[in-house]
Amino acid sequence: MGAGAAAVRLGDRVSETGERSGAVADTVSAPVLGAHQPESRAGVFVLDRDQSEGEVGRAVRALVEGARSDDGGDTLVAFGLGTSLFEGAGSRAPRQLRVMPSFAGDLLDPAQSHGDLLVRVAGEDAAAVRKAVADVKAVATEVGWTVRWGIDGFRADNRVEESRALARNPFHFTEGFGNPETEREVADRALVREGQGEPAWAVGGSYQVVRVIRFATELWDKDSVPEQERIMGRRRDGKWLDGASVGEEPNFAADPKGRQTPLDSHVRLAAPDRRNPPPIVRRSYSYDRGDGDAGIIFNCYQRDLAKGFEAVQKRLEGEALAKYVLTTGGGYFFVPPPGDAWIDALG
Ligand code: HEM
Repeated sequence: MGAGAAAVRLGDRVSETGERSGAVADTVSAPVLGAHQPESRAGVFVLDRDQSEGEVGRAVRALVEGARSDDGGDTLVAFGLGTSLFEGAGSRAPRQLRVMPSFAGDLLDPAQSHGDLLVRVAGEDAAAVRKAVADVKAVATEVGWTVRWGIDGFRADNRVEESRALARNPFHFTEGFGNPETEREVADRALVREGQGEPAWAVGGSYQVVRVIRFATELWDKDSVPEQERIMGRRRDGKWLDGASVGEEPNFAADPKGRQTPLDSHVRLAAPDRRNPPPIVRRSYSYDRGDGDAGIIFNCYQRDLAKGFEAVQKRLEGEALAKYVLTTGGGYFFVPPPGDAWIDALG
């Protein structure tokens, strides 16, 4: 897929005849995750299908068309296909799609994890997002599907700087610097290519990992800012601890003992080799469900799950940040490429 060519992008409305005129169906096309400013509000929820209904494709088509005909303004709806949606699909399923395992330190609540179909609704206006969420849920009810779990998110101080989408997380740190600047690089990291051994329909799609990560903000806020910065490995505003500016690379090789940037800091473990950044694109939202239950809905996209998210997550085991965070839910999903051909793959 050429970046933006055939892709339905943020800001495009797709009418039932397939014409574009506003905003709705969204794929993970490069412009969506690249320089484009993400929406500051999101509703993320996961549906389970009607088990008595053999044919999945027909219900999914109804859901997709329902989302497209939604007239709720500048909201977009993106889908992610869950592992369980492909039961019995054999080689039609994305090759690496599986139930998200429990990683070290995770406490996954099955009622807040996995499921058949992920729906991400995003927009600037919270009321419009809520309405679009309700509309998609209503279509889901019509086709006999149920809501398994869901969560609302937001991006504080949401902006684009130097072609990177940035936002402030509940730990007061700005996230997004490690993402690629160009659409080509975003596509290179995120989109499945031909020759990867994936089914033909999946080319141009992307593996999406969702992790609902609760933050111990009270505990965190007891630490001084310099302590917090040593745990993250960057300043709150993104500068490097060895003095390199936001847009430069730190010189980890000159700091083998981690005196400036501790060896167990988040960025040092996440991306140790500055010439070979991890092949993932991150796009997270903050959440706050009250009673201290706040954190991030971590989202990342990659064309290869094992080389992308899983390799980074394993490196992060034992990081200094671990005692402040707890992953309670989420799942592995596959964002289909633009168009409708993928629906046939569901049978
Ligand atoms: C647990 C909660 C997390 C917090 C608070 C957090 C926070 C941050 C912050 C502040 C940065 C530096 C700014 C940036 O480049 O965006 C960062 C970078 C990064 N994080 Fe996380 N993150 C979390 C979880 C994760 C997870 C689960 C992964 C993947 C498994 C991950 C992968 C990365 C990567 C790859 C980078 C970029 C490193 C670089 O290129 O320098 N993070 N994170």
